[in-house]
Amino acid sequence: MLATLQPKVLSIITDDSKTVDTRLGEICELLRSKVPYYDWVGFYFKNGDKEELKLGPYAGAPTDHTIIPFGKGICGQVAVSNQNFVVPDVAAQDNYIACSITVKAEIVVPLFVNGENVGQIDIDSNTPDPFSEEDERFLEFINKKVAEIL
Ligand code: SME
Repeated sequence: MLATLQPKVLSIITDDSKTVDTRLGEICELLRSKVPYYDWVGFYFKNGDKEELKLGPYAGAPTDHTIIPFGKGICGQVAVSNQNFVVPDVAAQDNYIACSITVKAEIVVPLFVNGENVGQIDIDSNTPDPFSEEDERFLEFINKKVAEIL
């Protein structure tokens, strides 16, 4: 099911008549509107030389967490672990930054450019335990394609 979105993702990413941020925003909107259990979709990127993440394009409710120090929350942990982080139940996490009380689960997949962890895609779900390996592979595919235009 997620794989059926790949052609649309590719056509957005390769449309170089638009800025990179516009294209990333369109990907967020696409994912949020087409995947029923994706309720907030956003990109965070390393903020220059600082040991922190800065919110990039996103779709869904505005969040206060536009800057996240490395190590803090699910996002900040992925910035240092370089590993996917799938959280089936956010209530069971100590090191978690709540964006909305409706969120039940979260997935964060790091984005590498030339082997360097430069950011991540972050998805919040209001559905408990919705993510599978299919989501991980799909989001890895997206990040790999995004890395080609950064
Ligand atoms: N929940 C994240 C913070 C970002 S919001 O989900 C948009 C975290 O714990 O890092």
